[in-house]
Amino acid sequence: MPSEGDRSRPGRFLRKAPAPRTSAPAKESSAKTVTLEVNGHTYALEIDLRTTLLDALRERLHLTGTKKGCDHGQCGACTVLVDGRRINSCLTLAVMHEGDAITTIEGLGAPEELHPMQRAFLEHDGFQCGYCTSGQICSAVAMVAEARAGWPSHATEDVAAPRVALTDAEIRERMSGNVCRCAAYPNIVAAIRSVVGGGGT
Ligand code: FES
Ligand code: FES
Repeated sequence: MPSEGDRSRPGRFLRKAPAPRTSAPAKESSAKTVTLEVNGHTYALEIDLRTTLLDALRERLHLTGTKKGCDHGQCGACTVLVDGRRINSCLTLAVMHEGDAITTIEGLGAPEELHPMQRAFLEHDGFQCGYCTSGQICSAVAMVAEARAGWPSHATEDVAAPRVALTDAEIRERMSGNVCRCAAYPNIVAAIRSVVGGGGT
């Protein structure tokens, strides 16, 4: 009688099949109700807890002004404001923002009453295809507030200054997380400069 592991007689090489499962183990659902405050409105969403804020905004709330570029935190197209601070919405989960005030490009201004930064981008042609533009504008709005609060950047000469002057070098450095494939950078800088004034905040 060959042993179970005897490969010299393949017809006799038998392995016991695993017993069929009669009942699958119960899986805990990852869908939950998440309450988000976006542009002054409150939404209760039944979503998978792994949903990014970007996907919740675009796919569930249909706020498609926020764009998905890389989905990896590298382009800035998905930038939104959370409690006034800019974040990449592709890198954070929607469930992490219950209770936060989220602002997208749709909530920054309205067609009949544009935010000054939106108007400046229009007046200075701060875009070509426009794909990066909502992220650029949200980022610029928060960036100006950061400089006014005295947050230094790598381009800041006096990091102890209570308020950072937004020179072109400061603007470029602080906006470096927002990539523009159309390379509209000179006009983007001009638009931001027109909002903050020449060289100051
Ligand atoms: Fe979020 Fe590119 S889509 S950083
Ligand atoms: Fe086209 Fe910036 S305007 S990517």
